[in-house]
Amino acid sequence: MKPFIRTLWWENGSLYIIDQQKLPSREISLKLTSVRDVVNAIKALKVRGAPAIGCAAAFGVAISALKSRTSDPCKLRDAVLKDIKMIASSRPTAYNLFYSLGRMSNALEEALPGGTEKIREKLLSEALDIFREDLDCCRRIGVNGASLIRNGMNILTHCNAGALATSGFGTALAPLFAAKKKGLRFHVYVDETRPVLQGARLTAWELGKAGIAHTLICDNMSGSLMKQGKVDMVITGADRIAANGDTANKIGTYPLAVLAHYHGIPFYVAAPYSTFDPAIKSGKDIVIEERDPEEVRKCSGKMASPAGTRVYNPAFDITPAKLIRSFITENGIIKKA
Ligand code: MRU
Repeated sequence: MKPFIRTLWWENGSLYIIDQQKLPSREISLKLTSVRDVVNAIKALKVRGAPAIGCAAAFGVAISALKSRTSDPCKLRDAVLKDIKMIASSRPTAYNLFYSLGRMSNALEEALPGGTEKIREKLLSEALDIFREDLDCCRRIGVNGASLIRNGMNILTHCNAGALATSGFGTALAPLFAAKKKGLRFHVYVDETRPVLQGARLTAWELGKAGIAHTLICDNMSGSLMKQGKVDMVITGADRIAANGDTANKIGTYPLAVLAHYHGIPFYVAAPYSTFDPAIKSGKDIVIEERDPEEVRKCSGKMASPAGTRVYNPAFDITPAKLIRSFITENGIIKKA
């Protein structure tokens, strides 16, 4: 199955990513040859979005095993486990990271009795499986979500939960791609998504490539559009969904859900099962990443406030389950986790 956009791929024994920090002005691919490269790329948002982080992490574990020269399976296992710990520390919120690392740890234990070559082979095939499964899940999310879209609708989305945030089809944007393929006519409002502008830089770029009509808005404009009756539906992605359905997603998702509720507009979250964390009871237990204050002080790399201004910069917020109409998943549209 071919992705809509090649976000990350495995070629000749190396991991490649499209550098999302350079988009939309430049389309540059980066070769990641070490675990440190993968961790740094995740931290710096060169590869970002929950499912894409999960895929990159899985390939990072494969790189760990492939780069080690030891012929002692126990030594290899210890080295890979150390790297898994390092990858796990890259970003705390997206559950897909921990889902993938959990699968890679299990694959490591399973392959251990077969020796070092078996471990290397198994870890690469598990990473490729995680990648292919994500492609398939996103394609199915697209088909399921497209059933909600009607001709003439105005749909609002936040951040980038598109092809770039996954193995190549997206979650929140997948229904839009599928609806466009069906020949439906609709229009999308794209929140710019401060501080690092994933909506303005990445979602607008993807929708443009797909030929989907869209309008970029600042994050503080959605309420006014809703009041004017110009939004029929909101679809966002998710970074982690607790057992009760509370959902962590890009900062600014929660106020959108409140606004949508006030205006009687359905609010959907599109996510694969690999984003649902059954071990976390509710949103209050989800760890929210706080990022570098410079992201807020600057806009598009230029200072936008006095140097040293005190900043609050959480990367995500929690939307309570009761504000979410349904979850669009690979297995259908469901009300609760
Ligand atoms: O900080 P980011 O850019 O990784 O945040 C991404 C989001 O919040 C996405 O909406 C989420 O990961 C879903 S991606 C399919």
